Amino acid sequence: QIIPVLLSGGSGTRLWPLSRETHPKQFQPLVGEQSLLQATWRRLAGMPGAAAPIVVANEEHRFMVAEQLRQLGVTPAALLLEPVGRNTAPAIAAAAMQAQAGGADPLLLVLPSDHVIRDEAGFRAAVLAAAPAAEAGKLVTFGIVPTGPETGYGYIKSAALPVGGPSGPKLSAKGFGTEVPPTGGARVVERFVEKPDLATAQAYVASGDYFWNSGMFLFRASRYLEELAAFAPAILAAAKTALAGAKRDADFLRLDRAAFEACPSDSIDYAVMEKTSHAAVLPIDVGWSDVGSWSALWEIADQDPDGNAHHGDVLAIDCRNTLAWGGRRLVSLLGLQDVIVVDTDDALLVAAKDQVQKVKEIVSVLKSQG
Ligand code: GDD
Ligand code: MG
Repeated sequence: QIIPVLLSGGSGTRLWPLSRETHPKQFQPLVGEQSLLQATWRRLAGMPGAAAPIVVANEEHRFMVAEQLRQLGVTPAALLLEPVGRNTAPAIAAAAMQAQAGGADPLLLVLPSDHVIRDEAGFRAAVLAAAPAAEAGKLVTFGIVPTGPETGYGYIKSAALPVGGPSGPKLSAKGFGTEVPPTGGARVVERFVEKPDLATAQAYVASGDYFWNSGMFLFRASRYLEELAAFAPAILAAAKTALAGAKRDADFLRLDRAAFEACPSDSIDYAVMEKTSHAAVLPIDVGWSDVGSWSALWEIADQDPDGNAHHGDVLAIDCRNTLAWGGRRLVSLLGLQDVIVVDTDDALLVAAKDQVQKVKEIVSVLKSQG
């Protein structure tokens, strides 16, 4: 059995002004008609062995999360609410302990709720292909062939060796249906480096030896908790107390505020993946994007022959490689190249496409001004 763990706590500030703290990107239909959170669940549809998900979200978003799941007819196994964000390591810890309730020790498929994946069948096949390694005690990540020296990603160097070694026991796909592809398989991770600086990222990409970490993971709940005990015991302890003191509130499970506030804030990548010796990577080629910025959205959007991507009521004349995101009124562009325009009810963004990583600077200036 595989329990999907949907992480829905981020605020997606680089997609301002569409993505806001009160209404972050995962709840919005950025690609297609469903929100990114809904698409995350829908792409698992029909995967053999996939159980009801555990969803971890910020308490401020509880009604949005509940409503979006309800629209899909999903009843989560648990909907855990964080009183404050403490990044992904504690969120996954709480989910892992919840998944073990009743004495089970399932595989957890940890999924950020803000990614786009074009090849959904390929993705499901990859999860099933990763299952034997996860059952054998590996923390399996899904690796993406890098297209540039992005500094916002984790980088993974893998050994050519398959998990288990060349003469090791053949990993079996027992219990996971017949969708498992005969090829590929997870490889041992030699090194995991989260968010390297630009020079390092450039060297990694040039070497051809590194994958990006997609941020999706498959592992046994107990294996993750063991690694946390070894490398981040304070996070494990705080998450345990927060879950033990959790209060049921209708369909929600509210983690104990005091305990969770006291939890150190760290990501699974820094807290566990950089340190563990049990990491494995399964390379995937499934049209993955984390929609981390407006230019990333432009890249995956449907474009006209001149490279313009439009959403809503947009008129563009003599434009190239623009992204225009309309709101309630007509947006018109004339003679522009490589420009992003995003119109919302209370804010308008006009940006050079190669500067969009700095949109979060706008957000922090606005925050500091209150
Ligand atoms: N529940 C919960 N609570 N979810 C959270 C929290 C939290 O405190 N913080 C982040 N998340 C969710 C986000 O909504 C997102 O879906 C996912 O966890 C990953 O968090 P990000 O903040 O987006 O991480 P990142 O993009 O900086 O880095 C991660 O993803 C990259 C690929 O997109 C890392 O795993 C990198 O190694 C990876 O390359
Ligand atoms: Mg991200």
